Amino acid sequence: MNPFLPVAVDAARSAGKLLREALGGPRRIDYKGYPTNLVTEMDRRAEALIVGRVQEAFPDHAVLGEEGGAQAGRSAGSEYRWLIDPLDGTTNYAHGLPLFSVSIALERAGEVQLGVAYDPNLDECFVAERGRGATLNGEPLRVSATTALDESLLVTGFPYDIRSNPETNLPEYAALSLRSRAVRRLGSAVLDLCYVAAGRFDGFWELRLGPWDMAAGGLVVLEAGGRVTNVRGGPWHLDGPGVLATNGRIHDELLAALESVRRTR
Ligand code: IPD
Ligand code: CA
Ligand code: CA
Repeated sequence: MNPFLPVAVDAARSAGKLLREALGGPRRIDYKGYPTNLVTEMDRRAEALIVGRVQEAFPDHAVLGEEGGAQAGRSAGSEYRWLIDPLDGTTNYAHGLPLFSVSIALERAGEVQLGVAYDPNLDECFVAERGRGATLNGEPLRVSATTALDESLLVTGFPYDIRSNPETNLPEYAALSLRSRAVRRLGSAVLDLCYVAAGRFDGFWELRLGPWDMAAGGLVVLEAGGRVTNVRGGPWHLDGPGVLATNGRIHDELLAALESVRRTR
């Protein structure tokens, strides 16, 4: 039994419960850098809960939380680092929309070993252990069998600096909307990835994401039999650029479509 898994699952479930109970309540919203990048006190409270649990159980390990940043562990030489997105879908959350998740991943020597994503609204817990498969509430996960982009349901997201950075993802969104059955935008990259793993979507791409957005969900896709690269088709890396995660079967076709949009820029 992996000693890290119960700690990650318990922390994700507890943080999810905290978020769900406070959904819709009055809250203070702050802005991080861009007028579209919100943070609520619930992001911070959920992160404090998770970091507290992890540090209590594994004081030697390093931690990288979206809100609190990097913290070294007690042992400077530890190979382990926890990547935490305490609330993925903050914009939804701030508007009372019950579509968000908690994401916790554990990396060892730069490779993600464990990923847990929890959606407290549907009580769905996605888990992946490297080399040991992916599950949803204990049941094995498998990507979809769709073979053509034309028959695919896709999902994407847009960066917070969309008003200032020319790489908006809007031309990609327009092009893929004409090439696939539809392109959705849920507002939680973590759920986007987990839904690819569950076969609910055939593919997901996003041009810019943080390591906490994609560490757990990316491993869930890989362990469900999918393919994950960066958005240009190179090896998937937590530092980007971006991510492209699919059922594997439509990967090259989707990559080529993204490439052709990039060439016209
Ligand atoms: C965001 C969500 C969103 C994605 C953004 C992310 P946050 O994370 O995952 O779907 O489009 O790029 O930053 O800020 O809600 O944790
Ligand atoms: Ca996020
Ligand atoms: Ca977040």
